[in-house]
Amino acid sequence: MQLPDLCIAGNRIKTDIEYIYDEVKIAPIYKGKKYFLRTYGCQMNVHDSEEITYYLESLGYIKTEVLEQADIVVLNTCAIRENAKDKVYGYLGRCKHLKKEKKDLIICLCGCLMQLPTEIEELKKKHEYIDIIIGTHNLNELPQLIKEKNKQQIEVYSNSDKVYENIHYSRDSKISAWINIAYGCDKFCTYCIVPFTRGRERSRKIEHILEEVQYLKEQGYLEITLLGQNVNAYGTDLALGYDFADLLERVAKIGIPRVRFVTSHPWNFTDKMIDVIAQYDNIMPYIHLPLQSGSDTILKKMNRRYTKKEYKELFDKIKAKIKNVSVTTDIIVGFPNETEEDFQDTLDLVHYCKYDGAFTFIFSPRAGTRAATMEDETPIKEKEERLKRLNEVVNKYSLENNQMLIGKVVEVLVTKVSEKDENKICGYTDTFKLVNIVGEKDNIGKIVKVKITDAKSFSLDGKIVTEQVNA
Ligand code: SAH
Ligand code: SF4
Ligand code: F3S
Repeated sequence: MQLPDLCIAGNRIKTDIEYIYDEVKIAPIYKGKKYFLRTYGCQMNVHDSEEITYYLESLGYIKTEVLEQADIVVLNTCAIRENAKDKVYGYLGRCKHLKKEKKDLIICLCGCLMQLPTEIEELKKKHEYIDIIIGTHNLNELPQLIKEKNKQQIEVYSNSDKVYENIHYSRDSKISAWINIAYGCDKFCTYCIVPFTRGRERSRKIEHILEEVQYLKEQGYLEITLLGQNVNAYGTDLALGYDFADLLERVAKIGIPRVRFVTSHPWNFTDKMIDVIAQYDNIMPYIHLPLQSGSDTILKKMNRRYTKKEYKELFDKIKAKIKNVSVTTDIIVGFPNETEEDFQDTLDLVHYCKYDGAFTFIFSPRAGTRAATMEDETPIKEKEERLKRLNEVVNKYSLENNQMLIGKVVEVLVTKVSEKDENKICGYTDTFKLVNIVGEKDNIGKIVKVKITDAKSFSLDGKIVTEQVNA
């Protein structure tokens, strides 16, 4: 692909990343006390919350789902769009109320929103009852901060050149696990706050990742998901001679039944990656390939580094080489001065790709990003209208794709009791489609064969069978 000059930032070789192995020693000094933890945002935050949980539980805290019972409240925040922020501020009101009755309650805010200095200023002014504010780069300091909670404490570093290597997690699931392969992002898409909240791109070394995968295999995990803001950039910063395709292959060879990864950027998605995904049965045929926009003008303004044509070519290659692959995407409507014609280009791409699913958003200006300063005359009503039209098309294709599975037998990794119906169990197909299943609860933690009986836009229904999976 033809690359704009700015992409050089995305490939910078960093020789000053420090790998830190210090063990955080924690005594259970709060035995019997309770913690309430709420997580906003993406898988990065969900996985960070598993680290936070480890610290809290090592300190002796027990989990509660009831805010009023908590001795410590931790809100792990997200900054990606304004509504993510609003949710946190809404919750803070309840915490303030509770603190009036419970003077010893510790209120801690962490996560991406805390990486933004303007937010911290606002919080300090309006919410003086908050005890601890901590950022995304130093979660390991949390146990110490909790012990020293006698004054409002703020420990946030704007950036980090460190990678911590012996992090412990209390993972939510014993079946499916997240694994960080890289932190931060250097892509600087002009609308996006993540490079500011998560810092520069830092890859973990391959041997550390493989060790973690091996450990998870020994623990009986059936699925792992490799995590990075842009997994295809993995390794380019280290310049040690391996890339994401090499990592993926080495991980697949360890033999966990299901290997997944998110998120891949369409820009440096290589043929080598496609070949590895196609070659290994335990690399799941599912790719989340964010489009953002189908208009070349908007893609350029977004600094996405690909054109509509290049995206289509990549999509075709993926579909041609990876058997039975499903592809989902992210789309933003109403980027500054997006015209009806630009929007039609996006719809065109959706018609072309017939995605299995899409997360769709209205552009939300984030202070500090380049797009936040761009002129924008499109009224919000028009943006909402575009989102509605887009969702209609997106939902039509996901429903059609799902309907094609009716009557087929697929493999599902059953992870839990269904949220929709407690008499059912649920899990995901290899193509990452949610299936609600009629079947016994003792199938949780197993990969079972399921006949699809019905399909909706966002999920499938099915029943367990013993037949062979379709060819
Ligand atoms: N690293 C991932 C995305 C992380 S954010 C990637 O590059 O794909 C998840 C999604 O949120 C993005 O793909 C984008 O569609 C959306 N998003 C990010 N910033 C946004 C903003 N300012 N307004 C609206 N949507 C945004
Ligand atoms: Fe990085 Fe993704 Fe944000 Fe782009 S959208 S800056 S790739 S996190
Ligand atoms: Fe939100 Fe931070 Fe993820 S801003 S989307 S939690 S990386």
